[in-house]
Amino acid sequence: AKDPVRVLVTGAAGQIGYALVPMIARGVMLGPDQPVILHMLDIPPAAEALNGVRMELVDAAFPLLKGVVATTDAVEACTGVNIAVMVGGFPRKEGMERKDVMSKNVSIYKSQASALEAYAAPNCKVLVVANPANTNALILKEFAPSIPAKNITCLTRLDHNRALGQISERLNVQVSDVKNAIIWGNHSSTQYPDVSHATVKTPSGEKPVRQLVSDDDWLKGEFITTVQQRGAAIIKARKLSSALSAASSACDHIRDWVLGTPEGTWVSMGVYSDGSYNVPAGLIYSFPVTCNAGEWTIVQGLSIDEFSRKKLDATAEELSEEKALAYSCLS
Ligand code: NAI
Repeated sequence: AKDPVRVLVTGAAGQIGYALVPMIARGVMLGPDQPVILHMLDIPPAAEALNGVRMELVDAAFPLLKGVVATTDAVEACTGVNIAVMVGGFPRKEGMERKDVMSKNVSIYKSQASALEAYAAPNCKVLVVANPANTNALILKEFAPSIPAKNITCLTRLDHNRALGQISERLNVQVSDVKNAIIWGNHSSTQYPDVSHATVKTPSGEKPVRQLVSDDDWLKGEFITTVQQRGAAIIKARKLSSALSAASSACDHIRDWVLGTPEGTWVSMGVYSDGSYNVPAGLIYSFPVTCNAGEWTIVQGLSIDEFSRKKLDATAEELSEEKALAYSCLS
């Protein structure tokens, strides 16, 4: 039998946490033969709710779940973890300045970076979900210098999956037959959902989405804005933000990263930019990646037309500004 993998979920008493921990305990994230020990962190005001989640995990009697640590102590939460899914953060509240929200999250991610750096297992893989996800991940990277930059990522897989979903609805095909969409840049409304290289499996072979969706105006307009604004549409409908889709996509992100992407398929991940596609190095930026043996690689050599170029640059610009704002909160 395999040794259990320790998976940290921060903000575990929140709504994404509530959807995510049972998925992890069922093997959705790491596979049906991989035992897990869940580490759940939240803050003292949520301690009682967190204990309720712990009780439900016991009650669900998940065969793969070999232990639960539920705590408000970051050191205890981070000790020995192999995978860290950072969902906890400070939400933007009505009337709050961007800088104030950034400042709260910078201080949270700075201190949790230190706890991970000192106490996580070597080679721990980190996925930041909490917004501003890219910049929180960047701060985490800066304050956990001994964790390789390659191990620190943020979630744009939900946006990627939303893009696949929109194409599947438009063409009336199975979502599992659509692949190789790309989310470029920030997990924000400046993200660029790009289907220039996406394909659909059809009875007569793989076909480009661009050929099947003849309406270029839709691809360049409504498709993009629908994906960019889907989070807001969910909030409007549910009066709560996306939780089951966020949790499911977080599982997809980690599963593909650890177990690999299928041959010929790429996915979107927010990763530390090396300057590929002329994106400034040193930002956490969402790129198309393939994964193999626990390592991601940015897909190289995709053609970028003028329309796409502008969109790649605009979201990079926003991330550079966010980075500057985050740094201004440190001093
Ligand atoms: P929520 O408010 O229901 O849960 C957040 C939890 O984090 C709360 O239980 C809170 O007590 C906890 N928390 C706050 N500060 C903490 C700290 N310092 N350490 C540990 N826990 C802490 O929010 P929800 O809906 O679960 O969303 C969580 C985050 O995920 C939000 O920032 C949201 O914007 C983001 N999000 C990101 C998505 C993505 O695709 N990247 C998609 C959907 C949400």
